[in-house]
Amino acid sequence: MNSIAENHILNAKKILYGGDYNPEQWPREIWEEDMKLFKGAGVDTVTLNTFGWAALQPSEEEYSFDKLDEIMDMAERNGLSVCLATSTAAHPAWMAARYPDILRVEFNGMKRKFGGRHNSCPNSPTYRKYSVRLARKLAERYGSRKHLIAWHVSNEYGGECYCENCEKAFRVWLRKKYGTIDQLNAAWNTAFWGHTFYSWEEIVLPNLLSEHFEYDRSQFQSITLDYKRFNSESILECYLLEYQAIKEITPQIPVTTNLMGFYKTLDYQKWAPHMDVISWDNYPANEDTPARIAMNHDLMRSLKGGQSFLLMEQTPSVTNWLPYNALKRPGVMRLWSYQAVAHGADSVLFFQMRRSITACEKLHGALIDHVGTGNTRVYREAAALGAELSRLGAQTLGARTRAKAAIYVDWDNWWAVECSAGPSCELRYLDEVYRYYEALHSLNVPVDFVGEKDDLSGYALVIAPVLYMTKPGYDQVLREYVQSGGCLVSTFFSGIADENDRIITGGYPGKLRDILGIWVEESDALPAGTKNSFCLETDFRKNRAEKSGENGKENCGKECGGKTYDALLLCDLLHCEGARVLGRFQEDFYAGFPAVTEYAFGKGYAYYVACRSEAAFYRDFLEVLCRHFGAESLLPPVPGLEVCLRENENGSFLFLLNHGTETVRTQAANGRGGEELLTGRVVKDGEILEIGSKDVMIIRQAIPAPDRP
Ligand code: GLA
Ligand code: ZN
Repeated sequence: MNSIAENHILNAKKILYGGDYNPEQWPREIWEEDMKLFKGAGVDTVTLNTFGWAALQPSEEEYSFDKLDEIMDMAERNGLSVCLATSTAAHPAWMAARYPDILRVEFNGMKRKFGGRHNSCPNSPTYRKYSVRLARKLAERYGSRKHLIAWHVSNEYGGECYCENCEKAFRVWLRKKYGTIDQLNAAWNTAFWGHTFYSWEEIVLPNLLSEHFEYDRSQFQSITLDYKRFNSESILECYLLEYQAIKEITPQIPVTTNLMGFYKTLDYQKWAPHMDVISWDNYPANEDTPARIAMNHDLMRSLKGGQSFLLMEQTPSVTNWLPYNALKRPGVMRLWSYQAVAHGADSVLFFQMRRSITACEKLHGALIDHVGTGNTRVYREAAALGAELSRLGAQTLGARTRAKAAIYVDWDNWWAVECSAGPSCELRYLDEVYRYYEALHSLNVPVDFVGEKDDLSGYALVIAPVLYMTKPGYDQVLREYVQSGGCLVSTFFSGIADENDRIITGGYPGKLRDILGIWVEESDALPAGTKNSFCLETDFRKNRAEKSGENGKENCGKECGGKTYDALLLCDLLHCEGARVLGRFQEDFYAGFPAVTEYAFGKGYAYYVACRSEAAFYRDFLEVLCRHFGAESLLPPVPGLEVCLRENENGSFLFLLNHGTETVRTQAANGRGGEELLTGRVVKDGEILEIGSKDVMIIRQAIPAPDRP
């Protein structure tokens, strides 16, 4: 609570509804049509000026705001709240022609010409000068408009640049970080392959012309890693320059930029503190699982410690950029809108309001289709949702999610894992994160994503999948967490390297070794299509011997009576140094070696999972840990039914979302009766509920959050 953004958004009377609106692409007579159709759909918010730069600045010295004035007036007259974009996501053609430094250079060394969007070099002096100037002018001109509710800086920042400006800026960045060239040589261990640098000027950007043989695979990971940090920071600086210019003029209006979920190129955990409110664009494919979508929402909510976020974009029906752009099936737009709300959104906004007539988005879905009327399936569904959101009002705004389980994620680790040469080309950080997330999601256990700055003490369970990189001091954070009673789950390929991608010698998992009570001697990569297997004691917490340290094969072998699961991708060959074996590999020369271990460390427990496994394993394993350590399931799992809980001073809101194709049943167990907000019906405690395919229920209990048990 209490940040500018939250207060501002709490002042809203309801969940914001509407989206990206580009009237500048249309003649004025269409605008009046739009206003009527917006009213009919319950639209109350528009994002304006997302790509207006070329129109606003026809030449270097000339600015022209007349049309935007008119559009702002129209929005105001029609009672629409405005999220105003600074439009710096696509520079004008004249600027590119006059100042080529603004054009990016691609990973392969190709210098771009004008075209596309999201195309400016983040270290271009021209870009920085004119983007900030425009942001300031917009703030001066529109900052006092009552209906302006948020600033939307640029649009979906991303990508990389390998131009000479960036190269120079990279050297400055490195000098600031390492101080002397000797320190840089030491940190990167440039003695490898004769890479010793004698002056900063010798350092070039790592791309296809230098260290890379493909995008993800670098021959010198330390430099690649620093480049990724540098690039993310360079783009963040562009955002910050606009942010500061705007804040000087309108300190009270929240500033955001639309993020993209788990987007690898930008370290959002470093960006988030500089955003007043998180907003993001949700574009799943129809075949994405509900958990895949939910995982992004949960990251977005977690970035600012649980503060609610804005769903800035989603398509009402269809995208244009997938290989197969399937329609959202009837009910899915509504379902996914409520899913966003269930995970922490205070808005439901679309891209776009009216379907364009040219270029690559002419076949992208919109509230208003090319037919130009409200007589379409998409419009009717949107209008029905609009009416429903109006009835729902303000009650869920700002509500929080209380999670007792957390998954640790870290962008530096992500970059390092995926530019590593070996051990397996199939190793993808997010895939491993997803496996744990999906299991918790299927168990109806709320999850936060935490990073290196977050406090772990409130979590009953912390999972750190594939924690390859141990940053300085982070082993101590984990050590203290476990020692003081926490439950940590760690996996294969953890504790290997430091923040410069130097191996931590003395035995894997390096600084995590004493916390986990194991030593990993070797790791075996299993080629695609091959597997090993392991068994796991059922309900291993009950079987736990009083003291840890048992390391005999007799505890758990083929005869342990437990379940057998697939072992995939990478199998660690490890030795226990105090840990107890919960499961062992069953095949190959390391049959009998531990596959899952538990170590009683201080007041807590640390688990190690030595391979990738199958969904059933993650679910069975985490079910035991959640139950035992107190990361409660909101309701017993029902296939296809997603369950979320948000709480604020208006009560607690239980969201039931049926993603399946059949009607499902569940019980308002654990005292979860209350008022169902979409129908107004009272649900009794313990009542059996039926939820149709793609349908949603929101059950409110009026008990103020702090008083709930
Ligand atoms: C992104 C952009 C929008 C639009 C949509 C299309 O999210 O921010 O401008 O291009 O994609 O899906
Ligand atoms: Zn550049």
